[in-house]
Amino acid sequence: MNQLNKRHFLRLLDFTPADIAYLLTLSADLKQAKKNGTEKKTLCGKNIALIFEKDSTRTRCSFEVAAYDQGAHVTYLGPTGSQIGHKESIKDSARVLGRMYDAIQYRGWGQNVVDELAAYAGVPIWNGLTNEFHPTQILADFLTIQEHLPGKPLSQVKLAYLGDARNNMGNSLLEGAALMGMELRLVAPKACWPEEHLVAECQAVAAKTGAKLILTEDVAEGVKDADFLYTDVWVSMGEPKEVWKERIAQLLPYQVNMNVIKLTGNPQVKFLHCLPAFHDDQTALGKQMAEQYGLHGGMEVTDEVFESEHSVVFDEAENRMHTIKAVMVATLGE
Ligand code: CP
Ligand code: NVA
Repeated sequence: MNQLNKRHFLRLLDFTPADIAYLLTLSADLKQAKKNGTEKKTLCGKNIALIFEKDSTRTRCSFEVAAYDQGAHVTYLGPTGSQIGHKESIKDSARVLGRMYDAIQYRGWGQNVVDELAAYAGVPIWNGLTNEFHPTQILADFLTIQEHLPGKPLSQVKLAYLGDARNNMGNSLLEGAALMGMELRLVAPKACWPEEHLVAECQAVAAKTGAKLILTEDVAEGVKDADFLYTDVWVSMGEPKEVWKERIAQLLPYQVNMNVIKLTGNPQVKFLHCLPAFHDDQTALGKQMAEQYGLHGGMEVTDEVFESEHSVVFDEAENRMHTIKAVMVATLGE
């Protein structure tokens, strides 16, 4: 049953395991309905504001396509061109937009910003990524995991995340795994582990759900028998350029390459990445980094793994749209 109507979607720990399971089932149903041509519109006449203070391809397109599929209209408010956060506070912007829109998506800086929007807008707020959390991404990741291990509940899945585990992805995977009773290994140097208070909060949830949350610096131990390997960029949006050098030095031993695939001992192991990924030097920044640090053929993941049969990253990217649609339908649908 849908108990999410009119709720915000700010971080995963605001929800119960049953809520997350409901959203995953709804996502799969909406995906099937779209493919069958039987999708029903539940957001007709709704107006949605999309605030993006950071760049996006997947998240923005997912919200827009999902809105149009469901009959809603969107307004995109980019990093420049509105008063938000420049000439007008978040509190005032929330109260203005809440008078015009039925829901608001926010991507940008601190989690305190989505919390403030939620406190003052009077309409559902959806977190499309903050420095701390990226909750809609986890729904797409878990749907992809379910699709690739049909019949196996999330509580029996072993997921190893390598790299920067102190960012929005490491934090959100920790929350998602805790809720769904999963075995998650965060494989990273200690300096890149999530903050202790979050680990403690998630361990308390894990004690109830049976989740196993393991933090380790040891790659071989961390990836052994994993069903899925996951990584993310080593430097996230908004972090200063200066941190690249230190991160590369810290995280190069945690690169997902064919040796790590072998270390899992699982020939069927699958590879996930929220994207965008530095797996080649086809982008300007990728090229610059490759030249500066001699990292040809990939950074957090090698091109070999990214392009291999282990990689399910484009299924995962597609699932952003179906899962974001589920959040919109569950919280705002008629
Ligand atoms: N994974 C993700 O959030 O991608 P975008 O930055 O393109 O939205
Ligand atoms: N950690 C990354 C995730 C991008 C989807 C970032 O915040 O840039």
